[in-house]
Amino acid sequence: MGRSLRVLVGVSGGIAAFKTAELVRRLQEAGCEVRCSVTRAAAAFVTPLTLEVLSGAPVYQEEYLGANGSGQELHITTAAWADVLCLAPATANLLSRLALGLADDFLTTTALAFGGPVVFAPAMHSEMWTKEVLRGHVATLEGRGMRRIGPEVGRLASGERGAGRMAEPERITAEVLAASGSRGLEGRTVVVTAGPTREPIDDVRFLSNRSSGRMGFALAAAAAEGGARVVLVAGPVDLATPWRVERVDVTTALEMGEALERLASEADLVVMAAAVADYRLAKTFPGKVKRHQGPPDLDLVENPDLLVGLAEWAPDALRVGFAAESGEVEAEARRKLVAKGVHLLVANDVSRRDIGFDVDANEVTVFRPTGEPVFFERRPKLLLARDLMDLFVTEMERREQTTPAAARP
Ligand code: CTP
Repeated sequence: MGRSLRVLVGVSGGIAAFKTAELVRRLQEAGCEVRCSVTRAAAAFVTPLTLEVLSGAPVYQEEYLGANGSGQELHITTAAWADVLCLAPATANLLSRLALGLADDFLTTTALAFGGPVVFAPAMHSEMWTKEVLRGHVATLEGRGMRRIGPEVGRLASGERGAGRMAEPERITAEVLAASGSRGLEGRTVVVTAGPTREPIDDVRFLSNRSSGRMGFALAAAAAEGGARVVLVAGPVDLATPWRVERVDVTTALEMGEALERLASEADLVVMAAAVADYRLAKTFPGKVKRHQGPPDLDLVENPDLLVGLAEWAPDALRVGFAAESGEVEAEARRKLVAKGVHLLVANDVSRRDIGFDVDANEVTVFRPTGEPVFFERRPKLLLARDLMDLFVTEMERREQTTPAAARP
């Protein structure tokens, strides 16, 4: 990154807030630049002045703060400033507001405007922590990719023992550093494709498939979190561009191929998560085909296999393919691994309703030419994406250590 990691510490109102002062110190010792924001209740537990002196920056408090002198809104500029948002302590109230998307003070408006990694350290009485309503909110936040640390079991403010103590500042600091993504992707360029392609029939109709693009977008987000420069080549999908990702929008398989041919040579890793249409019309119809003209003759021709093309466009990159299967998953995955000349093939079973298309979770098996397949059981796509990215990095590093670039397939 070339500059120090910027951490916005969000403090909500719990007795553990007194430990936030130490957290600020720890983060600074780890080389971070820290700013703090406190909710109204937090200010009763730790004085903003303490945090201001420790962080060397004004502490953002309570309500919406309006614009700074240059006419920019502070919650937006603060969200853009931060690399990581660390909520410590995170009370039941703060977590519930975040899960629902409520934005009624400076910290929650900033959190909603923030697109990067979030670490939260819950702290509350164990009676509150175990309530079903709160568990639901916490699961929602984790499903969105936020990282929970703790709570730990121990003595609570009430004097009882139970789960609810905020994790120690040292552990929170380690989690913040991990979330910021020093996971082997700094200085790397990653190209990810996502979504379906659309092959026009006439000016209003097209052939396409059910890919939502979510898995590919999650992979792009995970790679960016990991510190890579990420280019996401996206088919037509209705998804927001992930944090710090460059996006190139395409419509057809041929356009996706052109984009890859242009971009892939810069890549260290190419992940083909897109569901590229296998066929297009030999010739599209001008205007709109009218019903009285009868059913049009769809003369289909094959699209190029972009993964196969990648062997030429990105010979040194680690190339990862996906396979959506509805029957013989393993046999088909192994066939594609060889036929498409890829280093890893991520297979999922699209005949299952609880994973894959249009669902927020996925379960996959990664196949490689040698060695055992690696199984990733069902989990939210963003969490799966992080785990897959870790595997890709390990594989990339293994190849670089064992094979000189010139000799790599
Ligand atoms: N793929 C590609 N170009 C195509 C078709 C597919 O690059 N024209 C890539 C996909 O992005 C994916 C992998 O190939 O990474 C496997 O896609 P899949 O649709 O499962 O493979 P097909 O070759 O189309 O095989 P089949 O339809 O027979 O299952």
